[in-house]
Amino acid sequence: MEVIIKKNYEEMSRYAAELIAGQIRKNPRLVLGLATGATPVGTYKELIRMHREEGLDFSQVITFNLDEYLGVGIDLSKPYHLDQSYARFMHEELFAHINVKPENIHIPDGLAPDPEEFCRQYEEAIREAGGIDLQVLGIGRDGHWAFNEPGSSLASRTRVQALTKETLDDNYASFYRQAGIAREEMPHFAITMGIGTILEARSILMLANGKKKAKVVAQALEGPVTSQVTASAIQLFSGKATIVLDEEAASELKNIEYYRHVEKLQAELAAGRRGKRVPEGVAG
Ligand code: GLP
Repeated sequence: MEVIIKKNYEEMSRYAAELIAGQIRKNPRLVLGLATGATPVGTYKELIRMHREEGLDFSQVITFNLDEYLGVGIDLSKPYHLDQSYARFMHEELFAHINVKPENIHIPDGLAPDPEEFCRQYEEAIREAGGIDLQVLGIGRDGHWAFNEPGSSLASRTRVQALTKETLDDNYASFYRQAGIAREEMPHFAITMGIGTILEARSILMLANGKKKAKVVAQALEGPVTSQVTASAIQLFSGKATIVLDEEAASELKNIEYYRHVEKLQAELAAGRRGKRVPEGVAG
């Protein structure tokens, strides 16, 4: 686990975008897992800039989104106000501005007639694509990854999940209130990749910013591994995990000095000031 602490949201976003872009340049057919929420918006903006100004090419990238509300989606036959979907969010914040092919985009279908069957097919599609190379993640205030609410099995797969009151409050504020939708009318269920699904990715990029995430970030990274904070499953992850935080979100970490020390060592290694071999264990 490598924890990178940046001064502010802009620097966190730039670092994250650079990491994603580096992976795409190395492997143009990258299978990229994507997240919604306010946290990755700055990262997506920076990726769009890189596409426009530096020719970052998404034409062969395959994407899989983490989750979607049940009962919403892009369906032009439905009234517009019902479409506070993550599908729409992703199109507005990223897909419409880069050259990803529509057929390479996968988002759980909130309008699927048989959601359970859909979840099974989603898992299948991830397998058929060869698995997720890099999964971008935020963290909910109750410690969730995607919509894996407290109590979700750490071995869970893609499925339908009921949302907690806290998640409904947060998502109502950021997605539904401004659309003039009553709290009761917003979807109370979602399709979400499971924690077991997420842990099969080859690498993870987790982002968090702001004071309101400080406590839960410390719980996830340094507290016990527990289904009560599903993001604590990061401690079980066997691939490469990079956690990029701003100073506020990092402010309750006990081992903050160690993370900064490792980051400095890594920078020295990258600059060739500590020999060529990366000593085992330094990467965390
Ligand atoms: C939602 C999403 C999560 C996201 C979380 C945090 O619950 N399902 O994937 O990480 O919100 O959102 P924000 O980045 O807006 O704090």
